[in-house]
Amino acid sequence: MNEAKHKHGPLYFDLNTGAKIPMVALGTWKAPPGVVGEAVKTVVKAGYRRIDFVNEKEIGVTLKELFSNGVVKRSEMFITSKLCDHAPEDVSTLSKSLEDLQFDYIDLYLLLCFPETWNAMEGLYTPGQARAIGVNNFSTKKLQDLLGYAKVAPVINQVECHPVWQQPALHNFCKSNGVHLSAFPPLGSPGSWIKREILKEPTLIEIAEKLNKLPVKVALRWGIQTGHNILLKSGTKSRIIENLSLFHYCIPPGLFLKFSCKTFLSLGAILSMSHKSPKWPFKSVSELFCLHVRDVFDFMFGYSAQRYRPYIEF
Ligand SMILES: NC(=O)c1ccc[n+]([C@@H]2O[C@H](COP(=O)([O-])OP(=O)(O)OC[C@H]3O[C@@H](n4cnc5c(N)ncnc54)[C@H](OP(=O)(O)O)[C@@H]3O)[C@@H](O)[C@H]2O)c1
Repeated sequence: MNEAKHKHGPLYFDLNTGAKIPMVALGTWKAPPGVVGEAVKTVVKAGYRRIDFVNEKEIGVTLKELFSNGVVKRSEMFITSKLCDHAPEDVSTLSKSLEDLQFDYIDLYLLLCFPETWNAMEGLYTPGQARAIGVNNFSTKKLQDLLGYAKVAPVINQVECHPVWQQPALHNFCKSNGVHLSAFPPLGSPGSWIKREILKEPTLIEIAEKLNKLPVKVALRWGIQTGHNILLKSGTKSRIIENLSLFHYCIPPGLFLKFSCKTFLSLGAILSMSHKSPKWPFKSVSELFCLHVRDVFDFMFGYSAQRYRPYIEF
């Protein structure tokens, strides 16, 4: 992406390691094998420099081809992988990821939900196998606890955050502790089993109409203007290119403020899923966020575990 072309602010956020993270990443979750490689080629050629991925082998082969054809250099790309297994000894799976990717290092390695594995993650950072380490789905409380014993502070907390689930307290906590917030899914994962319906949110539509933009564009712009990077998925070439136009406009301060009005912060999308049974143990959404799955596992039987999965910390 040519910085000179983009008049509405920089294209990167600064991390507490001194590295820069591109504001927009291609998320590849749910992208089927065979499709993801093509999507990576398209996004890199369109100017994206950050990929957050699942299918490492296919992405590794594609990136290698792009590097050898001179389309982009390894040093220009910001690549993230994630530790999905939980025990401290599982951090060695990074070596397998690097082998699949055919890389010497990863730009960011994320720990999914399990604080007890953090010290082992730190062991990957020191020799440089992972140039930055971060966490995924950490609530304020969990992050606060982690910062109390971490020798290396996480650079990033990757969490759900979008116009109808803004997480202002977590946002502020991350900011004041130098942890950058990385947000998914910026459009609310349209069509998925959780009906967040971000793009039908009346406040978003009203702002979009005033700006003469599509709601999707305003939702994307809201993220980077709020100060976090976004993980966006699209498998459609025209959308991949079009979505980058979010650097060509901005939401003026007067309209931007409307996003923080109380009704828009409503957790209706989530609370509407709340189970009506008196046995349901959580009194508030933040309480739900602060619990560990092992504490609530008993409660999950009899409820739909899948349904609540994104809101529980594993
Ligand atoms: N760390 C975690 O725990 C976690 C959890 C969930 C997600 N994530 C990350 O976040 C990424 C994004 O999440 P997501 O894919 O669920 O949701 P999303 O990015 O909010 O939405 C993706 C959907 O929006 C559509 N879309 C993209 N651009 C559009 C446009 N301009 N107009 C209309 N529709 C558009 C895409 O359709 P087409 O593909 O047809 O264009 C796709 O169906 C994931 O890929 C993953 O990397 C991380």
